[in-house]
Amino acid sequence: MNDFSFYSPTRIIFGKTALETIGPELSHAGYTKALIVYGGGSVVRTGTLDRVKASLDAAGIAHAELGGVRPNPDVSLVRAGIELGRTEHVDVILPVGGGSVMDSAKAIALGIPYEGDVWDFFVKRATPAARIPVAAVPTIPASGSEASNSSVISNDAEHLKCGINTDLNRPVMAFMNPELTYTLPAYQTAAGAVDMITHVLERFFSGEPAVPVTDHIGCGIIRTVIACAPRALEHPDDYDARANLFWAGTLAHNGLAGCGTNVPGGRDGDWTCHGLEHELSALDTSITHGAGLAVIFPAWMRHVWRAHPERFLAFAKEVFDIEAVDSTDEAVEDAVTATIDELQEFFVSLGMPRTLGELGVTEKDIERMIPGLTLNRGEVFGSFMQLTLDDARVIYRSAL
Ligand code: NZQ
Ligand code: ZN
Repeated sequence: MNDFSFYSPTRIIFGKTALETIGPELSHAGYTKALIVYGGGSVVRTGTLDRVKASLDAAGIAHAELGGVRPNPDVSLVRAGIELGRTEHVDVILPVGGGSVMDSAKAIALGIPYEGDVWDFFVKRATPAARIPVAAVPTIPASGSEASNSSVISNDAEHLKCGINTDLNRPVMAFMNPELTYTLPAYQTAAGAVDMITHVLERFFSGEPAVPVTDHIGCGIIRTVIACAPRALEHPDDYDARANLFWAGTLAHNGLAGCGTNVPGGRDGDWTCHGLEHELSALDTSITHGAGLAVIFPAWMRHVWRAHPERFLAFAKEVFDIEAVDSTDEAVEDAVTATIDELQEFFVSLGMPRTLGELGVTEKDIERMIPGLTLNRGEVFGSFMQLTLDDARVIYRSAL
């Protein structure tokens, strides 16, 4: 087991009464004015926004609000939020929505105390030193942003999508009522399930040796998602399925599933597939992150598995109960291929795409993604197997 540092300071308030505790919890923590951030209107239509405001009002917490965050959120609204947060003198940011809303809130939180342009953090021109606290109200199990150290923001003007990882990004609280996720469109439920599975996979396939305790946690999360996502799709108001998915999404990305499998001194995972997917979403901001990953992850697996077949065999056994019939190269290849096929079929069974073509991406788009990939990942990247930009081209092409 490699040395690691695990930091997950987010208080999780989980269950059917979570929204009603927002005001009391924020008040107890000493906050007096919140900037509520939300998306394209789902929280208005479902009444969630009104419930949040009622809880704040009852606790005497003032609030300003900023709506209109779109999926794959653009930095321009983040800049507007920073201005608003400053003029309104808010002392906590309260995103109510999905990963796009939470990531925008985190960026606003980093930008308020910073004199320069917040985009500096995303292109590594500056390192954040302070932030306004974020308390999150997630409405979709997917990004795990409610407890993660990441914020991922697009920059339409520069055709980029970039992330910043810092413990300053970890929300201080998250209020999670699984009932809020009943209204999710099936496509978003499915994309969220894929996203959380891949948050474990990025860590499991880091290239580092097995860590049984962490591997079992990670595979347990994946088995839970595989069991619960179809139930949630069939019965959108299945509380138990929704609740388990919601919690799985948090645990998949708060760092727990990577303890000890992290690259020594480095990140807890490989993250190549996330890098390849972020370029898809930068290319076309209508591409949903989880849908892109459903295509990219199997393609990456088929490209790299020979670097550590033992990790694939461990995953095969623990998640799909697939074993190689003997230790010959052919038997190992058969077992690994069956495992990748099974994972991909699961994604497809949820309604996710199998090919980049289904996402509208064509051969000529591949070169358009390379500059962003180079900026975000460099010319050599990956820890499970070191890859070059040519490998990235091969993976993209194999997924067309
Ligand atoms: O905008 P509204 O109207 O709210 O609708 C949203 C949006 O259209 C809708 N939605 C969310 N909750 C709903 C709902 N509709 C009905 N009922 C509800 N309860 O779902 C759509 C997608 O929302 P979005 O926030 O984009 O989804 P998600 O949570 O999947 O977030 C994706 C973003 O997170 C980033 C991705 O790159 C992407 O930009 N990620 C952030 C990470 C992090 N911060 O740790 C890690 C991830 O790997 C990921 O990169
Ligand atoms: Zn993700």
